[in-house]
Amino acid sequence: MYGIQVSQFGTEDVLTYTELPAPEPGPGQVRVRMHAVGVNPADTYIRSGAYAFYTPQLPYTPGFDGAGIVDALGPGVDTVKTGERVFVAALGTPGCSGTYAELAVVDARAVHPLPAALSFGQGAAVGVPCLTAWRALFQKARLKAGEKVLIHGASGGVGIHATQLAHDAGAIVIGTAGSSTGADLVRAAGAQHVLDHTTPGYLDELAQITDGHGVSVIIEMQADINLERDLEALATYGRVVIVGSRGSLDFTPRLTMLKEATIQGTALWHATTQEAADALTAVANGLDNGVIQPVVGDEIPLREAAAAHRRVLEPGTRGKLILTTN
Ligand SMILES: NC(=O)c1ccc[n+]([C@@H]2O[C@H](COP(=O)([O-])OP(=O)(O)OC[C@H]3O[C@@H](n4cnc5c(N)ncnc54)[C@H](OP(=O)(O)O)[C@@H]3O)[C@@H](O)[C@H]2O)c1
Repeated sequence: MYGIQVSQFGTEDVLTYTELPAPEPGPGQVRVRMHAVGVNPADTYIRSGAYAFYTPQLPYTPGFDGAGIVDALGPGVDTVKTGERVFVAALGTPGCSGTYAELAVVDARAVHPLPAALSFGQGAAVGVPCLTAWRALFQKARLKAGEKVLIHGASGGVGIHATQLAHDAGAIVIGTAGSSTGADLVRAAGAQHVLDHTTPGYLDELAQITDGHGVSVIIEMQADINLERDLEALATYGRVVIVGSRGSLDFTPRLTMLKEATIQGTALWHATTQEAADALTAVANGLDNGVIQPVVGDEIPLREAAAAHRRVLEPGTRGKLILTTN
């Protein structure tokens, strides 16, 4: 079978498409024939060798997310059947051989039925983005119906799902995007207001939207750029959950006092077993009842994974970037 192998950490050029031995499922494991693979920004940080949460042993095949058909079962697995359509959400589970491949072996707990209405591409968009969105909104921010929430970076993998989930929970959603295509997707996902984070002063409109009170919750994808302004946009007692940040910033701590604000980070890597199970149950329900409707953006062949790693860090996001195996 063919897949991506990384033999040294570095730029996207270290992603090599090559023939690899088919991985064999051991006890408690499932082998999935991957049809689509979810590309997450974290895949690029891991590939660089400088990711705080995880450094794989070289050589390795990247990827935690994907969707396909169950191909073989290891001993003791009775939760899925061969031939079943599934999505894979393997971050936090042991023994993942890497989803950037035609065949991936993962822990049976990482494999979940893919509703018939969803494509493999949509299934590949579920894992890290949906679980992160749910964790940020409900396990961290504890969002309530009627609250106003700013999804700061709503056009990407995490943001679109956060918008769908927050809207379904009865919150009033303000989402941001950096392109008109992204803005359309955010609106379609349920945001009542869409702002363009590339326009100077774009957060000024929040005063009018919130009658001068500010938003109760901010889910932040780019804290190194936005955190200072987030505190200005926040209501008293508001909560900011930092999902993404790619640098540092000058910050005025006094703003937290003025709003008696809570700023907390989240990382899927820190979810407890129970939290991960709760999030997965909620996400599976959301897929079944149509609340979560993954949006596939760019589709790139697996052999061009290097191009995907460049693309996933560029602006102009329009849903989930996936790799296709055929
Ligand atoms: N903490 C965790 O557990 C966790 C899990 C998953 C992801 N993340 C991180 O969260 C971030 C988003 O992940 P993703 O998968 O959604 O990535 P993505 O699909 O690449 O989307 C990136 C999003 O950030 C937006 N953005 C760009 N510039 C922005 C700005 N100045 N202000 C606000 N938003 C801006 C993009 O909008 P436009 O392209 O429309 O400009 C897009 O909506 C990444 O940094 C990722 O590493 C963290």
